[in-house]
Amino acid sequence: MLAARLSLALDEGAFNLPDTGAIAVVAPARDADLSALPRDRTTVITRHFPVHHHFSALGYAVETTARGPYALTVICLPRAKAEARALVAELAPRTDGPLVIDGQKTDGIESLLKDLRKLGDTGAPVVKAHGKLFAYRGAVPENWRAGPQSVSDGGRSFQTAPGVFSADGIDPGSAALAAHLPRDLKGRVIDLGAGWGYLSARALTHQKVTAIDLVEADHLALEAARANITDDRATFHWADALSYQAAPADHVITNPPFHTGRAADPALGQGFIRAAARLLRPKGRLWLVANRHLPYEQTLESHFNTVTPLAEQAGFKVTLAQAPRKSRKG
Ligand SMILES: C[S@@+](CC[C@H](N)C(=O)[O-])C[C@H]1O[C@@H](n2cnc3c(N)ncnc32)[C@H](O)[C@@H]1O
Repeated sequence: MLAARLSLALDEGAFNLPDTGAIAVVAPARDADLSALPRDRTTVITRHFPVHHHFSALGYAVETTARGPYALTVICLPRAKAEARALVAELAPRTDGPLVIDGQKTDGIESLLKDLRKLGDTGAPVVKAHGKLFAYRGAVPENWRAGPQSVSDGGRSFQTAPGVFSADGIDPGSAALAAHLPRDLKGRVIDLGAGWGYLSARALTHQKVTAIDLVEADHLALEAARANITDDRATFHWADALSYQAAPADHVITNPPFHTGRAADPALGQGFIRAAARLLRPKGRLWLVANRHLPYEQTLESHFNTVTPLAEQAGFKVTLAQAPRKSRKG
């Protein structure tokens, strides 16, 4: 999709590939094909650990934040409007040459194109594969920049950021899971997919918790978690939960993701359940919340000796799974 539109745009002269200078590709999907651009001059900018790992293995320079100046920037449109606008506002002043924006119709490329047409020159967009690509030249409103964003919970305020999970309010599923954590929660806890730290913050109200590892793939979310949790018992890991290694834990708490990039992917949540079984002590416990329709039962049953539904409400379910079966595979 990106590859097809990039090649067509270069063939049609929608923008020119600069002969020299650094090129930034911002927020690409993991399966994005960047072969239309010279690898030795291209830096991939991504917050997401698995994407970072992937492009790094392909030999690209990879960064979590943009520096610049860039001779060409290609922004791959994220779905969250505030995040998309913040990327345009951040990259425009760092780009001396073409500022190219690419995205699917389902991610809102037409609405961004419409907004930018009122502010500057977008040229004629390249239209292909259910998406559009255009080069923008013009001003970007100051209020498109990412400002501080926060949510509150019982008088406590938490920092979030555009595009991170539950940026505008606490997820009701996570709130239900937190309410089901036992009073005597104790020992070592791992929060898989910790986001900006809501579940960990709730777990840390239990005084007998001795340590908590927050494992999160989204760098921006993890930075927010660092700001939100200053408790010495917490350690922060920018990592892929599926391959994360640690000493055996007493508890894993998780509200697993169910999307890979833009696509629904129950296999990712199933991978989180397998990772939890691997990371727990023989008598360890997994505390899980998930949307009711997600097919996690079979994975839970095959990786834990005891699986107990704790609550089912408003479209999600809270489950306790105990005693991982270490020998099971699949
Ligand atoms: C449903 S959210 C839950 C966030 C937080 N625990 C809460 O309850 O608000 C799932 C989180 O998993 C993160 N995530 C997605 N894939 C991941 C992976 N492979 N490894 C670690 N974290 C991942 C997402 O960035 C997101 O923050």
